[in-house]
Amino acid sequence: MSNVKFLSGETIPMEMHKVRMVQKVNLLPVEERLVRMQEAGFNTFLLKSRDVFLDMLTDSGVNAMSKNQYSAMFQADDSYAGSETFYRLENVLQDMFGMSHFLPLHQGRACENIISEVLVKPNTVALMNYHFTTTKAHIMRNGGTIEEIISDEGLKIQSTNPFKGNMDIDKLNEAINRLGSENICFVRIEAGTNLVGGQPVSMANMREVSRICRKEGIKLVYDASLLADNLYFIKTREEEFKNVDLKDITREIASLMDVVYFSARKLGAARGGGIITSDDTVFAKMRELVPLFEGFMTYGGMSVMEMEAIAVGLQETLDIDVISQTPVFVEAMCNELIAKGIPVVTPPGGLGCHIDAKQFCDHISQEQYPAGGLAAALYIASGVRCMERGTLSEQRNEDGSEPIADMELIRLAIPKRVYTLSHVKYVVDRLAWLFENRHLIGGIEFVEEPKVLRFFLGRLQPIGDWPDKLAKKFREDFGTSL
Ligand code: F0G
Repeated sequence: MSNVKFLSGETIPMEMHKVRMVQKVNLLPVEERLVRMQEAGFNTFLLKSRDVFLDMLTDSGVNAMSKNQYSAMFQADDSYAGSETFYRLENVLQDMFGMSHFLPLHQGRACENIISEVLVKPNTVALMNYHFTTTKAHIMRNGGTIEEIISDEGLKIQSTNPFKGNMDIDKLNEAINRLGSENICFVRIEAGTNLVGGQPVSMANMREVSRICRKEGIKLVYDASLLADNLYFIKTREEEFKNVDLKDITREIASLMDVVYFSARKLGAARGGGIITSDDTVFAKMRELVPLFEGFMTYGGMSVMEMEAIAVGLQETLDIDVISQTPVFVEAMCNELIAKGIPVVTPPGGLGCHIDAKQFCDHISQEQYPAGGLAAALYIASGVRCMERGTLSEQRNEDGSEPIADMELIRLAIPKRVYTLSHVKYVVDRLAWLFENRHLIGGIEFVEEPKVLRFFLGRLQPIGDWPDKLAKKFREDFGTSL
């Protein structure tokens, strides 16, 4: 995607692809959207896709694939063991990351399961720039805990720091001194901190973290699920890499790490995942668990057709026209929202546009899940589905108390090559209406609360009758329009 200047002076993010296969979507009237939200227990995960107009819940597994990915699927070798497809994907990964071993696994959290089973010992601590929901759950399931050592800047909503996902090196040193390196199961860098606005990590920071980990003998694990966006940001925001090939950047990142894993629902734009490493000992331990949890070593729970699509998708990650799509769209959307006074996370990151529900709904306390309320309100006002990324996505403490999230965000993910500029403009318009009417949005509370990863399947209800009032006001303001 390139920013192209128009005669009017306006700069438009221009798609560098054409769309040759489409899927019809539905925009239900507001009254029906209200009913669907009630049926979904005020949890956007529980909406049916047929009732969603623009699905910005996530980009996971729903990015548009290229024609080369589709055509590669038909050369898949469907063998239980020793499939040619495995060796093709392994070759691509070895070439791209310069690491020797590859373990195929069915998705990102399967990698987290196996990494945690092997590396996390009871009462050890995983240090990381920021946690991801499934990562933390797997570490805790194995008796470990996590500590976040993100830079202070990373938790500020508005900032001009280009690498808000960086680790704070002083805090890292302090944590290692306090805990002792033998009590740290690993240090984990997430390329693009998912829960705090898709903010990237600089190469300079990764070099420093790697240097410290090597000196202390601590394993460094890299979650590369959001690598595509992070590559784009390193290339465009870190002076030293302006003219460096994306493949060389990828290889340098990998050279700093001991273990790299990824969700291929994001990286590689298909569905699957994997771990790569050059560490023979760790590899041997992890390999034993693959047939136990996933499937035979040459498919690891993935369909071989998907593996072929991943192999091509990974190679396409090294094309700037491909990986610029999300960050450039996110930036365009953030800029339009900022112009309307809507509080968004800045600088614009990867993955999607993140709106600060604490400011948007400053009349709702975090115990009443303002981001959850805002996500439900946005669906009622627009048919757009987004994801709550705040207190609702946290897990209760052992004593049942509610951990209040650092940030209270809604994330409007932008799946790659799926939506167009008119879609983006529609979301901006409905958010602007919602912002004008924000006093009508209320909190929500659990009626069914699962113990683990409660945000996926939990059911909630509104506190008061605010959804009815919101739908009524929409009808008054928009007349018969959808
Ligand atoms: N790590 C990161 C940084 C992720 O964003 C995700 C998934 C995972 C690990 C887990 O991978 O879903 O394949 O098991 N993120 C999705 C999202 C679910 O919507 O952001 P998975």
